[in-house]
Amino acid sequence: MTSVSIPGYRLGDAALPASPLSLEDLADLKASLLFGDDDAAALRMAHEVVKDQLEAILDVWYGFVGSTPHLLAYFSDPATGQPVKPYLDAVRKRFGQWILDTCRADYNEAWLAWQDEIGRRHHRSGKNRTDGVCAVPHVPMRHMLALVMPISVTMKPFLAKKGHAPAQVEAMHAAWSKAVLLQAILWCRPYVKEGDF
Ligand code: HEM
Repeated sequence: MTSVSIPGYRLGDAALPASPLSLEDLADLKASLLFGDDDAAALRMAHEVVKDQLEAILDVWYGFVGSTPHLLAYFSDPATGQPVKPYLDAVRKRFGQWILDTCRADYNEAWLAWQDEIGRRHHRSGKNRTDGVCAVPHVPMRHMLALVMPISVTMKPFLAKKGHAPAQVEAMHAAWSKAVLLQAILWCRPYVKEGDF
């Protein structure tokens, strides 16, 4: 059971299907990304830095998606072309929690299962289901990977806001960027044909 009561949030829910990746696969992937214990420590430092800035960070990200028509389309009803406001709002709450989870860097089997579910939630196999909406049914994989860049770059000013030394800000930012790419890669699994991931 999860201790976070946000509708649709399922990290730690034992009913989620297990990830097809093992913890060893995860360790190999982290090694490929140069993600080490120093990065996990830097993310935990970042947790303290960002935990009271979530709304401001989400304002920046939602501002970007909201002002980019080809991205806003995935939150919109294909029949009307209009954004589905309750959908945007519901996802925003889980997005805020995702920032904190990313900074906790507690990457275990429950976390891997949750990553697989978040991947499905972007893919046609699971999108819209959590919030019961009729938005565009699938986020293309190319945008999944492209969004790593804005989600990484825009975090830096928030990491620099609490008076840490430049080297600490750099370390937190590098760790954040690796952690976002790690997850975007894991979320691509449902997009790839069996055996190719
Ligand atoms: C690095 C890339 C991305 C990150 C870090 C990210 C992050 C997230 C997070 C944390 C959630 C909430 C998951 C949940 O708890 O249910 C989410 C859901 C969602 N994201 Fe992304 N996302 C990425 C790429 C994209 C792209 C490119 C789009 C296109 C606009 C997009 C559109 C959506 C939509 C529509 C949902 C709701 C899915 C559903 O129906 O459950 N995401 N994303």
